[in-house]
Amino acid sequence: MISVRYFKDGELIRIKLKVRGSTVIELPDNVIAIPAFADMHVHLRDWGESHKEDLNSGSRAALAGGVATVGDMPNTKPPIRDPDLALRRIKDASSLKINYRLHGGVPTDLNLLKGYVSLGIRSIKVYPEDYRVIEEIIKAAAVNNMTIIIHCEDPSLFRNLNGNDSRIHGVNRPLDAEFSCALRVIQLALIHGARIHLTHVTDPRIIDLVKLSNRITIDVTMHHLLLDEDSCIEHVNDPFYCKVNPPLRSRLIRLELLRRLINGSVSIIASDHAPHTSGEKFHSNYDNTPPGFPGLETTGLLLLDLWRRGLIDLGRVIDVYSINPLKILEVNNDAQLLIDTKSSTVIDPSLFMSKAKHSPFSGWATMVRLIGLIKGGELLMVDSDYEKMFAGLISNNTLIKLSRSI
Ligand code: DOR
Ligand code: ZN
Repeated sequence: MISVRYFKDGELIRIKLKVRGSTVIELPDNVIAIPAFADMHVHLRDWGESHKEDLNSGSRAALAGGVATVGDMPNTKPPIRDPDLALRRIKDASSLKINYRLHGGVPTDLNLLKGYVSLGIRSIKVYPEDYRVIEEIIKAAAVNNMTIIIHCEDPSLFRNLNGNDSRIHGVNRPLDAEFSCALRVIQLALIHGARIHLTHVTDPRIIDLVKLSNRITIDVTMHHLLLDEDSCIEHVNDPFYCKVNPPLRSRLIRLELLRRLINGSVSIIASDHAPHTSGEKFHSNYDNTPPGFPGLETTGLLLLDLWRRGLIDLGRVIDVYSINPLKILEVNNDAQLLIDTKSSTVIDPSLFMSKAKHSPFSGWATMVRLIGLIKGGELLMVDSDYEKMFAGLISNNTLIKLSRSI
């Protein structure tokens, strides 16, 4: 049992959290508990890409980042585009300590969606390469009552130019490719009565479009909210590291996105945790640099930092990175995250649990520290500097996270 201040409905109240063991540990007032984070868009890789990440390292990265529930993407190697492979994946993930949900890939035969449903898969992930047959997919998803999670970029608006740095990526995959896709799928969703979730949206116009709809939801990533195409390159000092899909946008667009998080129009934050090795990400050329960054160990910290700096309140942090994604994933929260609000953390990728030990946020200072995660009555993660505080609760299942504090 631990006694801790808990944030609920805008108020801090002292409660006792049930944990294995009967002694009561009184945590100091600077430690608060909130519902653990839920990240509906991650790539845990494994199989043919376990050098980038595997289910074990990915789930440890989740716990280190305060995340107890993930929605995993099907662009694995081989890609998950049928129920047989989906079942293999679900079995592989069954021993993980975190709550695991899989988004199925679009099968060549859409009748196979029924097979997904019988495995408990409630969502399918649509990539730009599936865009040709988007209307059929939307119809079939509506019939099977599945949510479509779409990476919405219209490939007919892509270009193929080469450039000296990753800024060319935003020319090749312009904002209008996102807008064109969004206009089309929103209309199709309304016509066919489908539920659509637009993931990693970077176009503020799309957020305004879907604001009052309960059939269409969106998420935004912290890299699109906090980095722009110029600032990222300056910070990482590598010409192509900042390549990501969809691309980082201009400072003006980024600030418009951030404004929509602050005014409450963004309802979900996701990491799009896309681990690649440092060797793959650095010192390469435009074509060969794989897109994306690891995000499971930075998203919650960066979001809480916005709270500590007074840009959003704590209730919103909990809504966008716990309550609302849990609704889409259809998972009930069973975990609490303990935060030291008087300490701080410098993002140090060399300490990541992910195999991808790099980040565009390397060296950023955040005004909080994630010190423990309790799930199902067990302490699953603890910051090494707080081990004494949680003495007696640490078991073989506890991940002890080293963290660099300031
Ligand atoms: O940047 C990205 N990386 N965007 C995607 O859509 C895929 C992801 C990956 O799997 O690496
Ligand atoms: Zn992704």
